[in-house]
Amino acid sequence: MADFVVTPWEVKGKIDYDKLIEKFGTSRIDKPLIDRIKSITGDLHLFFRRDIAFSHRDLDAVLNDYESGKKFFLYTGRGPSGKMHIGHLLPFYFTKWLQEKFGVNLYIQITDDEKFYIKEKSFDEISSIARDNMLDIAAVGFDPDKTFIFLDSEYIRNMYGLVMKIAKKINFSTVKAIFGFNNETNIGMIHFPSIEIAPTMFEKARCLIPAAIDQDPYWRAQRDIAEGMGYYKAAAIHMKFLSPLTGPTGKMSSSDPNTAILLDDDEEAIKKKIMKYAFSGGQSTVELQRKLGGNPDVDVSYQWLSYFLEEDDKKLEEIRQDYISGKLLTGELKQITIEKLSKFIEEHKKKKEAADKDLKKMMYTGNLAKKMWEKIY
Ligand code: TYM
Repeated sequence: MADFVVTPWEVKGKIDYDKLIEKFGTSRIDKPLIDRIKSITGDLHLFFRRDIAFSHRDLDAVLNDYESGKKFFLYTGRGPSGKMHIGHLLPFYFTKWLQEKFGVNLYIQITDDEKFYIKEKSFDEISSIARDNMLDIAAVGFDPDKTFIFLDSEYIRNMYGLVMKIAKKINFSTVKAIFGFNNETNIGMIHFPSIEIAPTMFEKARCLIPAAIDQDPYWRAQRDIAEGMGYYKAAAIHMKFLSPLTGPTGKMSSSDPNTAILLDDDEEAIKKKIMKYAFSGGQSTVELQRKLGGNPDVDVSYQWLSYFLEEDDKKLEEIRQDYISGKLLTGELKQITIEKLSKFIEEHKKKKEAADKDLKKMMYTGNLAKKMWEKIY
């Protein structure tokens, strides 16, 4: 029996990322590949520096394309099932970095259809969640003329031709095997993979998808059919999950608020959640911590610092060493996290309040959006 599960709808257990690479048949992002990215972009996102972007499909081919002057494009997305948490936002920041470094188009799919099919929520509820989520995403600050954010339920008219072609190529036994569908699965979900696959074919160029590894099953299905349809196999960069507050197993989930920091949490909530729930790799008493030191590798506060709150590699290493040696106490580590996180959330809220205009551009009036609404696939 597997001791962990990773699917697009469920992440459970302590994830062994090396095993996942083997199981999914992806490739490790290794040192030579990282060096190559650095030589092209001039610097490295901390996901590359810290083994958070750990696995890929065809990233080397994307770089070959880029270096030989061929275009590629980026694609990522969000399923609007509830309020967004910090973990959901990280792939978008990473995507922004890629867009800036390579100057390419980016498509962001909002799967209101998927979440309507899978959640016990009305379509009105899903729509209002989607609107709120899109403001969170727009707040990340993509290039409004090179980014297209679309709701499936709205853009379906333009992409339905492509969706049909994809749906015709995939049979039930394939999606059953890849996604674990069964006879009780509603037929909206059974058809849905064709919709998440469609944006990988929005351009006749290679598509690079930055996301956590839970979304990879879609790309596996896409890669089986793409070349036969005259398109490229999708390329992907897989990131590891930000842990839930409660410890290094599973992934953060908005439906259990004690495991997640939501993007609209206030300072009090952040403080309370971290103090009360953030899993610690420290010892049970100050004396023991001073004597034996803590274990940063299982400590959630430390993980969050390394995933996004502490950009500076030197400072992070100092914190790590101080924690291991016992110089830094759990309470102090949590305090660093609380301060940085509160600042991050506060800045995010400000950007979100001002994101309306950019969102409109990315959805309807920016250069890429306008072009996309004129297109019928
Ligand atoms: P969703 O809304 O579940 O997740 C949005 C993005 O966040 C990633 N993610 C995480 N990353 C780090 N730590 C976590 N704890 C964590 N939890 C989720 C997801 O991998 C994803 O990148 N069906 C998709 C929406 C979608 C999509 C796509 C996502 C449509 N097209 C293309 C990625 C790429 C969904 O429900 O994502």
